Amino acid sequence: MDKENLSKGIRGTYRVIIIICSLIVIIAIGSIYFFGTADTELVPIDQEKDSKEIVNGVHLKTGFVEAPGMQETITNCTSCHSSQLVIQNRMNAQNWKATIDWMQETQNLWDLGDNEAVIIDYLVKNYPPTSKGRRAGLTNVRWYELKQ
Ligand code: HEC
Repeated sequence: MDKENLSKGIRGTYRVIIIICSLIVIIAIGSIYFFGTADTELVPIDQEKDSKEIVNGVHLKTGFVEAPGMQETITNCTSCHSSQLVIQNRMNAQNWKATIDWMQETQNLWDLGDNEAVIIDYLVKNYPPTSKGRRAGLTNVRWYELKQ
């Protein structure tokens, strides 16, 4: 084998290697394109819809009862603490107002402006005190005599 033939042979080998490499790259990109995306398919989440969903009169995301003023309450009352902290409390208008005043004085709650009346109204209507005063009288009692 002379020198010329040798370099031809090497060039030929390079060509084959380059073609094989190109094929591998093309197949790899192709398979990522066709199969790679199959199991990582993105499921679009409609957050706007989720955060507005009401089921049986209850706002799913926060648990608030749906009624006028709910949106103002969600906007102003759920950014520092859970809505549950609000829901688990039941108060009359005066005490809801006092709670809001307390948060404004000590917890940096902002001025609610016109929304304050709307929110207090919503809270009193939907989360009023549960106390019914004295318990109802007993009925259907079977008395028995004490033996001495
Ligand atoms: C700027 C932050 C902030 C905002 C906004 C906010 N709160 Fe609060 N709230 C607090 C903090 C802090 C506490 C005390 C939490 C704790 O005790 O862990 C609290 C406690 C409460 C409590 C419990 C009070 C108690 O005596 O245990 C209620 C009820 C409440 N908030 C209702 C509301 C309502 C209604 C709104 C909307 C008008 C509201 N919060 C908005 C900061 C905030």
